[in-house]
Order: sequence, then C-alpha cells, then structure tokens
Amino acid sequence: MTQKLVVANWKMNILLHEAVALLESVNIGNLNKSLVICPSFIYIPILVDAFKKLDFGAQDCSANDLGAYTGEVAAAMLYEIGCKYVIIGHSERRISCGEDNQTVGRKLVKALESKITPVICIGESLEVRNQGSTLEYLFKQLEEIGISRNKKFVIAYEPIWAIGSGVTPSVDEVKAIFNKIKGAYPYLQLLYGGSVSPENADEFFGIDVLDGLLVGGASLSAQKLNQILS
Ligand code: PGA
Repeated sequence: MTQKLVVANWKMNILLHEAVALLESVNIGNLNKSLVICPSFIYIPILVDAFKKLDFGAQDCSANDLGAYTGEVAAAMLYEIGCKYVIIGHSERRISCGEDNQTVGRKLVKALESKITPVICIGESLEVRNQGSTLEYLFKQLEEIGISRNKKFVIAYEPIWAIGSGVTPSVDEVKAIFNKIKGAYPYLQLLYGGSVSPENADEFFGIDVLDGLLVGGASLSAQKLNQILS
C-alpha cells in the first residue's frame, strides 16, 4: 500500500525564520506518511537546500512558458529549484485572481511538461452545496480542467465553505463523493482539504478511497502537523 500524502499549504503565512524553526520541529525522521511542504515561492530554494529529506511544492505556477509575464513563475523554474509538486486551482486563486477551469487546465499541462506533480483543487461553494448540486459541479470542474479518465492525477477536494472555517463535511459525505468520483475516474488520487485538524485527520484517513489530506492552517503549527502525521 502506498503511503498517504499530506500536503501542507502554508499560503502567504510565516516568515523564513519561522518556517525554518517549524520544519526543524517536524518529526521528519520516522514519517509513515508522505509530506509535501508548500511555502511561498521565494523560500522554496532555501528550504529545499536546508531540508533535504522533505519534498516541496509551490502554491501555483504560470499557465505560460518562459516569456514576458511580469510577476509570474514558470513550472520549469520550479522544477529547476527542486520543487516536486505544485498546487493548482486553489479556490483562493480562483476567487482573487479570476482563475477559471480552462486556466487551471493550462497550468496542469505546464506542470506535467516540467515533470512536476500537480495537486489540482476542486470544490463547491456553499450555494452549490445548498442547491444539492455538489457532484454535478465537481464533475463539471474535472471535465473543464481536462482531467483524463484513464490517467493518474492528484485531485484535492476542498469545499470552499470548509476552507479556514472550522466546518467540514462529514466523513460519510466525503466518502460518498470520493466513491462517485473514483467510479468515473478510477486512477485519480483523492485528497480532502478544508479545516483539517489533529482532531479530525484520523477520521478522514480512515476513508479507504482517500489518498491524503491538504492542510492549511493546521500546518502552520509543528505540533499540529506532527499530530496529523502520526
Ligand atoms: P485550511 O486550508 O486547512 O486552513 O482550511 C486548506 C486549504 O485552503 O488548502
């Protein structure tokens, strides 16, 4: 059995000295889960160099090749500095930067061309959930992003209403959604994200079709991260 994956999304939090101190307190030695840390772009090369046993990911990449795109970071650049993963299509970027499924699909292609594993985020708003259209919405996202039904991709299901709110769907809800997705896309690796904490992580890990967790707020505490990893 492959190890479950824990992706830590630090977002635009913590300064470099805090990041170093945090990682020095993470039990890297005897992990029984795979851990990927996603810091801000500028810290990645420093942390890759300082923590050789850890895997690192970025929180975004450009949908374009190298060129005149001010402020953007190309997937090829991430690969060169030792990044193995990249989070794509996070709802915060969809909302604040207007990224749509087509853009997410283009980023996915660039990540794959650069040999970086994309962690592709999907998830419904509270409005969609209340309408009872969650599954329909998620399938539309997968289709519009261009997820193939016979390829292995890492998908993070993050309901927007669960992110940073302390509220999560029930384990049974996540399980039912994952079973439906796996029924149509059998090769996908499915992560859950949204208010994951040391208190609820084990319950989510207990879902047989769950391949891992995407952790935001709780990954900013070494103690909480260690508990989730234990
Ligand atoms: P959260 O964030 O764990 O703080 O809810 C998860 C995410 O946005 O990836």
